[in-house]
Amino acid sequence: MKKYDFIIVGSGISGLNFALNAAKKGQVLVVTKKKIINSTTNYAQGGIAAVLDELDDFNKHIEDTLIAGSYHNNKKAVTFMVKEGPKLINHLLDLGVKFSNKNGNLQLAREGGHSMRRIAHVGDRTGHSIEKVLIENVRKNKNITIWEDSFAIDLLVKNNTCYGLQILRNGRVENLFSSAVILATGGVGQIYKHTSNPSISTGDGVAMAARAGAKMEDMEFVQFHPTVLNSPGKKRFLLSEALRGEGATLKNHKGERFMPKYDKRGELAPRDIVSRAIFEELKKGPVYLDISHKPASEIKKRFPYIFAELKKKGLDLTKNKIPISPAAHYMCGGIKVDLHGQSSIKNLYAFGEVACTGVHGANRLASNSLLEAIVFSNQIIQSIKAKKLVNIPDFANFKPTGSQCLSNKYAKSLVKKIMWDYVGIIRNEKDLKKAILKLIEIDAKYCVKTNKISDFETKNMIQTAILVTKAALKRKKSLGCHFVI
Ligand code: SIN
Repeated sequence: MKKYDFIIVGSGISGLNFALNAAKKGQVLVVTKKKIINSTTNYAQGGIAAVLDELDDFNKHIEDTLIAGSYHNNKKAVTFMVKEGPKLINHLLDLGVKFSNKNGNLQLAREGGHSMRRIAHVGDRTGHSIEKVLIENVRKNKNITIWEDSFAIDLLVKNNTCYGLQILRNGRVENLFSSAVILATGGVGQIYKHTSNPSISTGDGVAMAARAGAKMEDMEFVQFHPTVLNSPGKKRFLLSEALRGEGATLKNHKGERFMPKYDKRGELAPRDIVSRAIFEELKKGPVYLDISHKPASEIKKRFPYIFAELKKKGLDLTKNKIPISPAAHYMCGGIKVDLHGQSSIKNLYAFGEVACTGVHGANRLASNSLLEAIVFSNQIIQSIKAKKLVNIPDFANFKPTGSQCLSNKYAKSLVKKIMWDYVGIIRNEKDLKKAILKLIEIDAKYCVKTNKISDFETKNMIQTAILVTKAALKRKKSLGCHFVI
């Protein structure tokens, strides 16, 4: 029987930061379904919001977070996160993250919904830079074992107590036991046809926790990022909100700026508002992001990654208006946890995007996601102890079931289309009801027939889509990212 003091599922910022902390208390296993670098963190461009300027203060950051979240946030959690922010930036500097500097001080960026410049960043690849530093530190630590290409199938839960998890590794199913199982599995963006998320964001953590009976919260609040490349034949690609923070404007098919007519904060209104405005304008024709009025040298220096990626796709950020549309970006809800990451199931913890601490309310403020991930993954270690597991019940191993069922590819494409068409940026009850019936039918017809990770992922996507749609159906009035007509 394999036992670890701490088992972490997921290798993004929160999983790896927690691993480093937990390694001071016991043996840690990190289970990750692809390679360690394959996390959503790796794709985060913007940065980490924190009060770092002497003209800024905690109350301003708290208020900006609450305004973006339509005051649906857990204010205690927001206050805790914001006050911890500067400390955690120092923690990352100590680990070796090289945040962008200007004259020896952190160069702070601005993004939508922020009343101040407060985003610490590493060029336009903040997530990737943090991830690399965390990986270097984790790899050096003798108390941390990393299992790549290992997929968590299900939690081992009996009588509302988690004893470990069942994983698929090297084609074999095995049970791992621990008194502290931590889900840091990231987001759900792949349930939508268009998303800024990588292919790994299939809702595994929420689906697994829901199957085990964990309480979920705020699953209807799926955030759509306003500006993702939208050009026929070209892969969708995130165009950081920091571009608008540096003066990029949004233009409609006539080449006119339209945001001021929707909100007095213009392009820097919170994401839910900007996404809906773009969605409206897209009905009339293409919508563009334009920063070409800025000096080319400045653009290339501040956004080298975005510039290079667009160049590969035949677009020049310094000269062209870039066609964009909103795309599913971030799950504001998730597994309900307290400020110590404790879920409603004993011994099961969660943080980062998979968890709902309540900090984001109905719509997350830009660059508060890495902040939440780092703050809470630092916090929970203070309350978790490595305990001896006793009286472990028997758990049956997963066996592929079902004879004939929907093909993986087909089921996946149906889910993505249903979610985009019926549970998207603008929702209505009739469509939501249509969606739930279709999703339940797909769930009944789709079975995991093989020991392939992608087969399990599809089941998780279907079940996550059902959770989002059920939550959306329950909330009758518009709030934040959940907009009903
Ligand atoms: C971005 O750079 O626009 C994404 C960062 C975030 O989601 O906060």
